[in-house]
Amino acid sequence: MVPGDTHHLAVDMVLCMTKLPTDKVSIWLLLQILISLALIFYIQRMWHTPADVQCPVLERKASWEQSRIIILLWTLPFNDPFNLNQCAELFGITGCFFTSDRRFYRNADAVIFHHADLMNRPNDLPHWPQPLNQRWIWFNLESPVHISYLDRLDNMMNLTMTYRRDSDIFTPYGWALLSKEPQNFNIPAKSRLVAWATSNWNPNLRRVHYYEELKKHLQVDVFGPGNLQLGRDEQTAVLSQYKFYLAFENSETRDYITEKLWNNALLSRTVPVVLGPTRENYERFLPAEAFIHVDDFPSAKELAEFLLALDKDDERYQKYFTWRSHYEVVGSINWQTHYCKACVFLQNNPTYKTIPSIMKWFV
Ligand SMILES: *[C@@H]1O[C@H](CO)[C@@H](O)[C@H](O)[C@H]1NC(C)=O
Repeated sequence: MVPGDTHHLAVDMVLCMTKLPTDKVSIWLLLQILISLALIFYIQRMWHTPADVQCPVLERKASWEQSRIIILLWTLPFNDPFNLNQCAELFGITGCFFTSDRRFYRNADAVIFHHADLMNRPNDLPHWPQPLNQRWIWFNLESPVHISYLDRLDNMMNLTMTYRRDSDIFTPYGWALLSKEPQNFNIPAKSRLVAWATSNWNPNLRRVHYYEELKKHLQVDVFGPGNLQLGRDEQTAVLSQYKFYLAFENSETRDYITEKLWNNALLSRTVPVVLGPTRENYERFLPAEAFIHVDDFPSAKELAEFLLALDKDDERYQKYFTWRSHYEVVGSINWQTHYCKACVFLQNNPTYKTIPSIMKWFV
């Protein structure tokens, strides 16, 4: 062994010693990076899943580049997927691209917040303030008593989109369209008297008390859990056999007139007996002779007597359908219809504004 060799050996050993830890460090670093990447990827997936599943990247790029207005749905209502871009097909409305992919946030001209979803995840809001020129839209179809968390929205929203007539974007549950051509309307064969469908028996609701009183004086067939069954596909056919339908709302609040009137009663071609906002309020949506209001009578007993009398007087009963020969009832409103209205509004109203307090306005 020459002295040089020992030296070499020592040097080698030192090199070796220093080399080993460096390798460990880099492997450790590499692992860290891999884990972080995996984590980022996973979080992104969680964040974007609904949208990614729905619209392939290429298609999305092509259609949003053609559109002038990008509208982001912050959530899909009740997380229920549907085809977002149908305004052209359904209504001939073009110029908007809808997405629920939050990667469009920075580029979106408007973001629509569906309140029922926001309520369940109060911290799920984008960073504030919004990008310049972007408008935030508060979308809500529930009555004030059934929602919370409004105070957190002060000075945040730019537009309202609700069933209230004084909303920026008015999205009612249905409407009666005055038609130019006379409508060919036939009264279906009627073999039964009064129907009511409900699943909510909350004793604090006025409608529950009212029904309890009413049924003392006449037969009311109740559909819903624990009562008569009514499948979705047979609803119209079954209800159309009734002369009257109790379109009783869960809240008596301005403009809150729901599918109970439009779908259950009117699309089923029965005469609605309504409980909800005032008669005056209903008359802003329907001709006065299109419905019977519970407040037209001092009590449920008098209403029952009136309905029983109508049951025996065909001519008088049929007068409740006269209006239908010059109106078309639009009901079963889907999400697309509401969103397409937002598209039209945004195209026509570029003005700036802020809603100081949704709570003060809505409640
Ligand atoms: C929307 O409201 C915010 C919050 O007050 C405001 O800063 C912004 O200028 C408004 N934007 C538009 C386009 O109205």
